Order: sequence, then C-alpha cells, then structure tokens
Amino acid sequence: MKIINPYLLAITTLLLVNCSPKKEVTSLKNSYKDDFYIGTALSASQIEEKNAAEDSLICKEFNAITAENIMKSMFVHPQKDKYDFTLADKFVAFGEKNKMFIHGHTLIWHSQLAPWMEKIKDSTEMKAFMKDHITTIVSKYKGKINSWDVVNEALNEDGTLRKSVFLNTLGESYLVDAFKLAAAADPKVDLYYNDYNLEEPAKREGVIRLVKKIKAAGGKIDGVGSQGHWKLDSPSLEEIEKSILAYSALGVKVAFTELDITVLPNPWDLKGADVNQNFEGNPKMNPYPETLPDSVQTKLAQRYADIFKLFLKHKEKISRVTFWGVHDGQSWLNDWPIKGRTNYPLLFDTKLQPKKAYNSVMQLKEGKE
Ligand code: G3I
Repeated sequence: MKIINPYLLAITTLLLVNCSPKKEVTSLKNSYKDDFYIGTALSASQIEEKNAAEDSLICKEFNAITAENIMKSMFVHPQKDKYDFTLADKFVAFGEKNKMFIHGHTLIWHSQLAPWMEKIKDSTEMKAFMKDHITTIVSKYKGKINSWDVVNEALNEDGTLRKSVFLNTLGESYLVDAFKLAAAADPKVDLYYNDYNLEEPAKREGVIRLVKKIKAAGGKIDGVGSQGHWKLDSPSLEEIEKSILAYSALGVKVAFTELDITVLPNPWDLKGADVNQNFEGNPKMNPYPETLPDSVQTKLAQRYADIFKLFLKHKEKISRVTFWGVHDGQSWLNDWPIKGRTNYPLLFDTKLQPKKAYNSVMQLKEGKE
C-alpha cells in the first residue's frame, strides 16, 4: 500500500488551490463578483504558464480569459486539412483548472487568416471553409468554451459592411450563416459580434442593423462585444452609455472585450500629420520611455474610475469586462500604431504592480461588498 505523506499532501493541496476563489483576498474579480466577470487576454507564454509571478496575478485578479492570438485562424487552422489545437487546448485547460469563464476569440475575422484562406476566391469554396472551420472548432470545445466571438470587425467606420474576403465571396449572407453554424455546433454557447469604435454613432447604427438582420434571418446572437480600445479623452461617457443602452435594447448582452486606454499621442490626431511619415524613434511620439508622470497616472486613474462607474450603473446589461492584457509590458499598444514605444494602458505595470488606476477601480467597490 502506498503511504501518503500528510505534509506533502498539504503542500500539494495548497499549490493546487492557489487560484480558487478565496473570500478574504482583495482582488478585482472578488470586488466585482456580483457585477460582471473581470477578464484578461492571455499571451501564448501566459497560457503556457511560463512566468510564475504572472500566473499567480492572473489567478488572483481575473475570472475570465480570452486568448490574445492563439485561437485566431492562422494559428488553429494553418492549412486546409490541418488544425493545430496544441495551444488552444492548453488555454481551455488553464481556464478549466482555474474555474474561469472561457471566451473564444475569434472564428471569422478578415485579419490573421492563414495564407491559404486569403486565396479562397469563390463562394462554393468559402462556404465549405466556413462550415468546416466553425463546426470543427466550436464542436471541439462544446460545453467548455462559454462564449465565442463569431464574427470580428465586419463593419467599416460608417456602419457599412467591410469588403473582406468573406463579403467579397459570399455577400452579406455570410454573417447570418456564421452565427447559424456556430449555434448548430453548440446550441448553448453564447455568440457575440465583436468590434471596435462601437461608441461612434454611425458604427453603432451598423451594429444595430446587423443584430436585427441576424435575428430576423433566424440566427442566434447573444451579445455585442465592444472592444474598448480607448483614449484618455475619448470616446465620451455619453456615447459609451448610449451604446450600452442601444445594444441591450436589442435583447442582447453587452461585453467590453478588449479594454485598454492609450496615454500616448496618436499620429492620426496630429493636425496635418502625414501618416506616411516615419514616426518610429521620434521622441515626441514616445514621451514617457522610462516612467509615466504622476499627472498622467492620475488622469488614467480618473478615466478608469469614470468608465467603471458607468459599467456599474449598467451592470445588469453587462456580462463581462476584459482587459486586453495582464500588464503594461505585454500590451499590443507598445507596438501600435508606432512600433517600439512605451505605453501604460492597463491596471498593472510591467513589474506586475497595481497602478493608481487599479486603486481607483477598486475604490468604487470599497465598503460595498
Ligand atoms: O507570431 C509572430 C512571431 O513568430 C514573430 O516573431 C513576431 C515578430 O513580430 O510576430 C508574431 O506575430 C505577432 C502576433 O501578434 C503574435 O504575437 C504579430 O506580429 C502581431 O502583429 C500580432 O498582433 C496582434 C494583433 O491582434 C494582430 O492583428 C496583437 O498581439 C493582438 O493584441 C491584437 O489583438 C486584436 C484583437 O485580436 C482584435 N481587436 C483588435 C486587437 C488589437 O489589434
């Protein structure tokens, strides 16, 4: 008979439960547990648990996860007859192990397609691709993944449909078909349309038309995902609120799916800026390479507080708020729209320390638990 060392058992149990919710722990996910899920996007290395400090921060603060890149078409479906679920399986296992809400990103998106997909030219081939792609992926994770971005970024800024490889080959029916295929593969999973700038009035109208169209054609759509790649001064709280109200009036959930707030100058905002000009390495475009001045840190904290106050006001309509990354060091905003800058868009700094913005989000809930 095998003798179990009680000391080892205790240590092992402690290690295994390090992510399970503990009431006494002060964290985002615990503070907001009665309001909505608090999520984060995970990089490949975070999914593989390569950094113990990041791993425990993720477990402590967040109860929902999205894969930042590895579930996109080019990674899971690199060739016509080949899927690669190695990292996607690890991502789902990570969420299951830690009892997290698992969001799938993304099934149909014009970007980060595998090269072979870009070459699809006719409707028969594209229809076959969509059926195989959506059915295979959604069925594989049936009952494990809680919600999917079925279609990502299908709209132009004026609310019209983007001329993607999907629209070009299939016409607008591809949108309804995508939602129908996903629902057929997993009737219980929540299905979202996901996009950015959804607070802009013209784009908002485009989303409203889209949701109505999908519903009218018998498709199942459960939510609108507003990415929330925002700035310190825009979009306005009024427009964000109008969008929450407009989308939920359609009978769907609203999720904020990729929240971050840039503090850096944007080349397109500069009057007379020539966007072809090379901004890389220009110190004016990278004003805080070492540290964020306290005045901007305070502005960021105030902006996050205002936004979360609004989210709390409409918590019945909001299913999830997910940050696009765990900490500033991993943010895509360090490399977009200009490569190699130092941005500060999230609640944790590069050393994984909570910023003033973290405190301001937490303070909204203090004394209210
Ligand atoms: O995988 C390659 C690696 O092999 C190579 O060495 C390296 C060199 O640049 O590039 C790696 O690919 C990068 C990929 O992320 C994975 O890290 C790409 O260059 C880079 O462009 C890509 O960026 C991602 C971007 O989507 C692509 O469009 C960002 O990390 C990711 O945060 C961003 O996420 C999107 C959402 O999916 C949809 N909404 C907008 C959001 C921000 O753009």
